[in-house]
Amino acid sequence: FRAIKTPEEIKNLTVACDIASRAFEKIIKDIRPGVTEKYVAGQVSGVAHSYGSMVSFPTIFSQHGEIQHGYPSMNVLEEGRLALCDAGAETMNNYCSDNTRTMPVSGKFSQRQLEIYSIVEECHDHALDVAKPGVKWADVHFSVCRLLFDRMKELGLAKGDTEEAVKAGAHAMFLPHGLGHMMGMDVHDMENLDQINVGFDEEVRPNLEQFGTNCLRMGRRLQEGFVVTDEPGVYFIPALIDDWKASGHCAEFLNFDKIETYKDFGGIRIED
Ligand code: GLY
Ligand code: MN
Ligand code: MN
Repeated sequence: FRAIKTPEEIKNLTVACDIASRAFEKIIKDIRPGVTEKYVAGQVSGVAHSYGSMVSFPTIFSQHGEIQHGYPSMNVLEEGRLALCDAGAETMNNYCSDNTRTMPVSGKFSQRQLEIYSIVEECHDHALDVAKPGVKWADVHFSVCRLLFDRMKELGLAKGDTEEAVKAGAHAMFLPHGLGHMMGMDVHDMENLDQINVGFDEEVRPNLEQFGTNCLRMGRRLQEGFVVTDEPGVYFIPALIDDWKASGHCAEFLNFDKIETYKDFGGIRIED
């Protein structure tokens, strides 16, 4: 079963990660006002190919990080915006990597961007602290969601009891996807087997009812040799804000008036 990676496979995955990190080093230099999203995304392919590799999936690159899997457009990068790049390399023997970085187009975060970035970074690091063999990945996910919700409360965007809020799914206003997935010879490893057979088992079943939680690709207990991505994000999705505000969904946990002032923010994800 491909879930447990051998040391040889880990070596191949590390090569895929190293190539992608060179691609990220390249695009950090290319990102500036006036260049198109497609130009920057193309550099990722160029670097991957120059190391005898290819991209592990079509590069996600967008100033609209709040749109999940937003592919690069011919729009030019604009001063003051954020650019989210989610990309990976695939080695000649098909081992994949998958990383995300979100960068300020002007080279410097605004105060508001830095506040949200720091929260995402803290969530990312928190997952690394909590995750270890024997721990359910779903518990890592929800631990991150609680931390994120606490931080949103500190910014005045959320309110109420954090435990109750996360149970109700209020955090999905900001983080509507799962914390991560297995990675290997597929970037979402073995997804053709159907995610329910890969990321879940008899003990940990998916919750297909709750918005956000139904997007978890994985929940099962971690074992030594698993390779899983750690990819928290904070997004401000105008359509979701309008929808929940109009219906009053989770209104006891969210300060919609304050959240609305972030409608032009975009989204931030960090993935390793
Ligand atoms: N690159 C797709 C993902 O992060 O799952
Ligand atoms: Mn990714
Ligand atoms: Mn991923």
